[in-house]
Amino acid sequence: MTRPIAIFDTTLRDGEQSPGASMNTAEKLLVAEELVNLGVDVIEAGFPVSSPGDFDSVREVGAIAGDACVVCGLTRAVDRDIEVAAEALETAKRPRIHTGLGVSPSHLKDKLRITEDEALERAVHAVAYAKSFVEDVEFYAEDAGRADEEFLARICEAAIKAGATVLNIPDTTGYNLPWDFGERIRNLMGRVAGIEDVTVSVHTHNDLGMATALALEAVRAGATQVECTINGLGERAGNTSLEEVVMAIRMHGEELDAHTHVVTQRLTRASRLVSSITGIQVQPNKAIVGANAFAHSSGIHQDGVLKARDTYEIIDPADVGAGGSQIVLSARSGHAALRHRMAELGFSFEDAEFEDVYDAFLEVADKKRLVYDEDLVSIVHERRRSERALWKLKAVQVSCGFPLTPTATIILEDERGRQHKEAAWGNGPVDAVYKVVDKVVGIKNDLSEFSVKAITRGIDALGEVTVRVVAQDGRIFVGHGSDNDIVVSSARAYLNALNRLLSAEREQG
Ligand code: KIV
Ligand code: ZN
Repeated sequence: MTRPIAIFDTTLRDGEQSPGASMNTAEKLLVAEELVNLGVDVIEAGFPVSSPGDFDSVREVGAIAGDACVVCGLTRAVDRDIEVAAEALETAKRPRIHTGLGVSPSHLKDKLRITEDEALERAVHAVAYAKSFVEDVEFYAEDAGRADEEFLARICEAAIKAGATVLNIPDTTGYNLPWDFGERIRNLMGRVAGIEDVTVSVHTHNDLGMATALALEAVRAGATQVECTINGLGERAGNTSLEEVVMAIRMHGEELDAHTHVVTQRLTRASRLVSSITGIQVQPNKAIVGANAFAHSSGIHQDGVLKARDTYEIIDPADVGAGGSQIVLSARSGHAALRHRMAELGFSFEDAEFEDVYDAFLEVADKKRLVYDEDLVSIVHERRRSERALWKLKAVQVSCGFPLTPTATIILEDERGRQHKEAAWGNGPVDAVYKVVDKVVGIKNDLSEFSVKAITRGIDALGEVTVRVVAQDGRIFVGHGSDNDIVVSSARAYLNALNRLLSAEREQG
């Protein structure tokens, strides 16, 4: 039997630190539910002291996770952080406080401005204080990848003595080469007293594109927990990608003496959910979950795969929930066919909700003959976005063309159900639409990115628009919208970004 490797998901904490990936509490709960279904061992739900929104998210994730997994809150080695995290974790059945501080020369000298001995004292105090609230305490030695190994071993040993149940050894800056990082872990395993009684975790970043390799080398060297995020989201170049680590362990379990409890068939669905909520697209050639991960383009490859799949495919797409049967629905498809296909894609609905989804499906099917899986996923996501919206799009009409001045008329509904009708002109139809939305919603922002892509094939494809807006305080919010008409998609995407900005401002208090 191979060793169980705990999967610690930090999509809701480090992942959310990706510029533009901020999620509100309702969105975080959708992701958390999916993480529970995916079978991760730990969900790091936020950094409670950082904002009221993070505090609420940790509380609410704690309440929904039940016994299914550990719920963790991040803190600095600061008493107030630890107290707030403990309060946020009151709803969790299996709470964990994740506390720690920088341990490399650069963090000690330039960031914290303290000596090694002072750092050691702070670490011991923080772990012991966290332990007075919860049994399960994880200590992180930030920037351990560049720390002096002697000091790293000393502070890890002190943290264990103070009560840490998990030691987290991060390569915070993604600096290491995989074999050096593995050696660092092996070295700690050999010299830190008590290390055999705690979980040894690794948290690696992708600055050199090696986060997954670093994590796997650490597992080979004895680590028993990997910290990762869906789609590899995270600070800068991101964190270790959950889907890559899980599938590498699945493919090479014997060699690594490792297995996980992740339900791999849900990986694609989890990836799409996170991408749709954060608005951060997955690069097409991304391992495991990219749109091209199982696409064969050259004739030689296609010929090989048709003769025997494993000539060019090491993973069966069904094992990660990609592909499968290609049922294409149309306006003639009934309720049963739609419900069946939606269930295969992982969506279930109450009867009343399903009627609305069916109406939305018919609307799309009337406009485009064939409705593909991607269209169905988009219908569900568009519905969920609009359910959570503070401002809803009720109508949009534009007139444009040569030599006309593009003008737009829009009806928006506010959260009290009142309708606001306005018109404006602009440099193009989308510009005109955005000017009217600005007139009604009245939030100052800069539009920093606008992109359109076709979700499916053909001239009648659903068009998905992604926008990024920069709020006055510099925070970035991504919006998404889809429709057959790209002017409507554009209006939806912009409104989605503004709704996120507004709800973040509200959660901030
Ligand atoms: O990258 C890092 O070191 C972190 C710690 C806070 C665990 O995110
Ligand atoms: Zn990190």
